[in-house]
Amino acid sequence: MMTEPIGKNTEIKRITLPPIPDGISKSQWKKICKRKRWEETKAEYSKVRRDKRKAARAKRRAIIQGYLDRGEELPDEYKSTPKLNHNQSDSGIKIIMDCAFDELMNDKEITSMTTQITRSYASNRRENHYADIKITSFNKRVKARFDKELKSSRYETWDHFEFLPDDSLITGKDVDKSKMIYLTADTDDTLETLEPGMTYIVGGIVDKNRHKFLCYNKAKELGIRTKRLPIDEYVKISSVKVLTTTHVIHLMLKYFDNKDWKEAFESILPTRKLEDWDTIDKEDDNVEKEQEVLEVEESDEEKEQE
Ligand SMILES: C[S@@+](CC[C@H](N)C(=O)[O-])C[C@H]1O[C@@H](n2cnc3c(N)ncnc32)[C@H](O)[C@@H]1O
Repeated sequence: MMTEPIGKNTEIKRITLPPIPDGISKSQWKKICKRKRWEETKAEYSKVRRDKRKAARAKRRAIIQGYLDRGEELPDEYKSTPKLNHNQSDSGIKIIMDCAFDELMNDKEITSMTTQITRSYASNRRENHYADIKITSFNKRVKARFDKELKSSRYETWDHFEFLPDDSLITGKDVDKSKMIYLTADTDDTLETLEPGMTYIVGGIVDKNRHKFLCYNKAKELGIRTKRLPIDEYVKISSVKVLTTTHVIHLMLKYFDNKDWKEAFESILPTRKLEDWDTIDKEDDNVEKEQEVLEVEESDEEKEQE
């Protein structure tokens, strides 16, 4: 595979494909070559991205220092929210992220799912209240991605987070289903409050809502009550009300600030944004952002150790 720059000042490269082997279509071959090229260059790209982020952080620190030196008040965009919240309280609820839907996701969606798990971990460390979070059926591609690409996250050591290979917490014989609620947008029953002592199950799937009623049907089969978040009751949203797993978990944690859904919705899903969105299940699969979450976590730890 050969690459040549298209223009003098541009990084866009024209890729010359090697001859297509027999029995493979042109588009399949393109995909294979693209993947190979990505594998070959990803370390280099990661370094460039890391350096860029480092430079951006240094620039930001210099600007902030400038304000401090001049004795001026920092503009809002330079005030950062604390990354690690040392004053967290236990919300008293348990959250299960049911990751039993691995085979229903394509590779991109698996990547997005891992990003969502890292983000949920970040909110669980930063919000004023944390929950006891278990990731169940963590045994296929989502796990493989953590083990391979996100090894440095040391996910097995995350606080208030546990990764379990099976789903016995949901399907086990001794499970007290009266203390469980499976959250789904596909029901008319509304979740009024979150109650300490209860376990709330969230579907660990990114599916752009292809599999409607998936979690609803699973909960019904298992005899677990289903509830939807009270979105309509508090905010205006144009159409689809299916949120991402990350948003649902973040909203639940935020709710405990003042036990106020409206406040939580407006904080996590700004109304302005809600009205623009045609689907909220648009969680990007931006690996860079996932990496940022993990890096922030790492630098928090570094600071802690200092
Ligand atoms: C991207 S959605 C998955 C949609 C999937 N088709 C299903 O059957 O649930 C991820 C999960 O977030 C939760 N969720 C999303 N929107 C919700 C809402 N409006 N009310 C309650 N739970 C919601 C559900 O647990 C859902 O399984």
